[in-house]
Amino acid sequence: VHLVTAASQTSEVELMALEQFARGCHVAFEFGSFQGVSAARIAGAMAADGLLYCVDPWPRSAARENPCYSIFRRHLQRSGYWAKVRIVREFSNQAGEFIPADADFAFVDGDHSWAGVESDWQIVRSKLKVGGIVCLHDSVIPKSEPWRQPESVEYYRNVISTDSDFETIEHVHSLAALRRVRWTYEVAVQ
Ligand SMILES: C[S@@+](CC[C@H](N)C(=O)[O-])C[C@H]1O[C@@H](n2cnc3c(N)ncnc32)[C@H](O)[C@@H]1O
Repeated sequence: VHLVTAASQTSEVELMALEQFARGCHVAFEFGSFQGVSAARIAGAMAADGLLYCVDPWPRSAARENPCYSIFRRHLQRSGYWAKVRIVREFSNQAGEFIPADADFAFVDGDHSWAGVESDWQIVRSKLKVGGIVCLHDSVIPKSEPWRQPESVEYYRNVISTDSDFETIEHVHSLAALRRVRWTYEVAVQ
């Protein structure tokens, strides 16, 4: 099979920010791995014994493997980080049981609809430890690309940026980076 070079919509400045925030981390997860461009950069920046859980359904057609998954695997193997990734071939809302609850880094870049990010945000809240960093793609409208307005921008503005367990550290192009500063237990109210 002829495979093309791994591609990504994630820009170089965003990839550099992912590396900066994943540097030295031990347990990380990514929602939406596509062809592995962001995964290789995150895995490369993590500690030598770090593990990156890559969550993507990479839907199969009946007859053949999803080409994006083949490109992902080859890209991670060639970059030398295959041993640092764990494949979770699921939609993110089915992935919780496979991801450890003490993650110190997360990158959310899967389903950019309101419902998709809402679900992903609940998983991040249940998995990211205090001090951990989460990066969310397509959460800020880049000045140079005002036409980019997925629902994830609205969800970030209205919900995530007001979550008192997190503080926004930086916006890089379309990416928002936040640190978890506390863990508020939700108390069931009768
Ligand atoms: C924009 S691409 C990810 C690009 C990648 N993070 C990078 O920077 O190289 C989005 C990916 O999310 C996946 N995806 C869509 N819905 C998803 C979901 N609910 N859970 C996990 N992955 C999802 C798609 O299959 C696709 O591969």
